[in-house]
Amino acid sequence: MQVVAQIAAMQRLARKWQHAGLRIAFVPTMGFLHPGHVSLILRARRAVGVGGKVVVSIYVNPTQFGPKEDFTRYPRDLKGDLQMCREAGADTVFTPDDQAMYPGKGEGLYSTFVVEEKLTQSMEGASRPSHFRGVTTVVAKLLHCVLPDVAVFGQKDFQQAAVIRRMTADLNFPVKIIVAPTLREPDGLAMSSRNKYLAGDQRRQATVLWRSLQAARAAVQGGSPVKAVRLLEQLKKLIAAEPEVRLDYLEFFNPDSLEPVSLVVPGTQAALAVFVGSTRLIDNMRL
Ligand code: PAJ
Repeated sequence: MQVVAQIAAMQRLARKWQHAGLRIAFVPTMGFLHPGHVSLILRARRAVGVGGKVVVSIYVNPTQFGPKEDFTRYPRDLKGDLQMCREAGADTVFTPDDQAMYPGKGEGLYSTFVVEEKLTQSMEGASRPSHFRGVTTVVAKLLHCVLPDVAVFGQKDFQQAAVIRRMTADLNFPVKIIVAPTLREPDGLAMSSRNKYLAGDQRRQATVLWRSLQAARAAVQGGSPVKAVRLLEQLKKLIAAEPEVRLDYLEFFNPDSLEPVSLVVPGTQAALAVFVGSTRLIDNMRL
C-alpha cells in the first residue's frame, strides 16, 4: 500500500491506472477510522475487483466545520488509520494537507466553492450553515485528485450521500456513487469517529438515537399512516428521558426528495441529530 500526499502525484497515478485500463474506487474519509469506514473500503474493492485500484483519502476538511465546531479537536490517528487501510486491502491512501487543498486560504487566495442549493436546506444544512458547502467543495476537489470510476459513501450520513449524488449528477462528474449500509455497535449505536468523545453514562444515553428510530419503525409497521407531529411528540419524550441528551432535529421525509412528510408510512426516511453532552451525533433509518 502506498501513501500519497501530493495532489499532482495522486493525479499522475490515477491517470496511469486509467491508461492501463484499471478501474478506480474511492472512499473519502476524515480519518480516525472504525469498522464502518472499513466496510466502505471492502465495498469499494467489491466494486472494482482484485484487478482494480482502491483509494482511501484521509483529510479533516476545515471548510465543512463551523467556527464553533470540533475541527481543531477532531480525533486523529494516522498510524492506526494506515494500518486499518492496509488490512482492508486499500491500494493507496491519499493524505493531502491544508496547504495542498486550500493554498493561501488564510490570505484570501482561495475563493472557489461548490454549492448545492436544494437538498442542503434542511436538517444538517439548517443546523450547520456552510457545512455542506465545505463537503461539496472538498468532495469535488478530491474527485478531481483521485479520478475514480466509483465512489463509496455511507448511509450513516444520509443527507450527505444525497447531496453528493446530486452534485455529481448536476456537474457531470463521470463517477458512480455507491451508498453502503450503516455499521452499528451491538447495542445499535451507529459507529462514528465522534463516539470517542462520549464519557461515562453518555455512551449508554447515546443509544437513544437507535431506540428512537426503532420506536418510529415499530409505530408504522402496522401499515396505517401515522401523523408526523404525533410520532415526533412520542419520540421527543423518549429523548427527554435521557438527562444529557438534547434534540437538535428529528425529521420524517421522502428519501429521494428529502421533502418532509406529514404522514409517516413504511418507506418514509427518519433522521435525527442530538447533542449528548457537547457531542453531536446523527443517525437515520428507512422506516
Ligand atoms: P467521515 O465522517 O470520516 O466519514 C467517511 C465516510 O464513512 C462517509 O461516507 C460516512 O457516511 C461513512 N461512515 C461513517 N460512519 C459509518 C458507519 N457507521 N457505517 C458505514 N459508513 C459510515 O463523511 C465524511 O467523513 C466527510 O464529510 C467527507 C465525505 C470525507 C468529506 O470531508
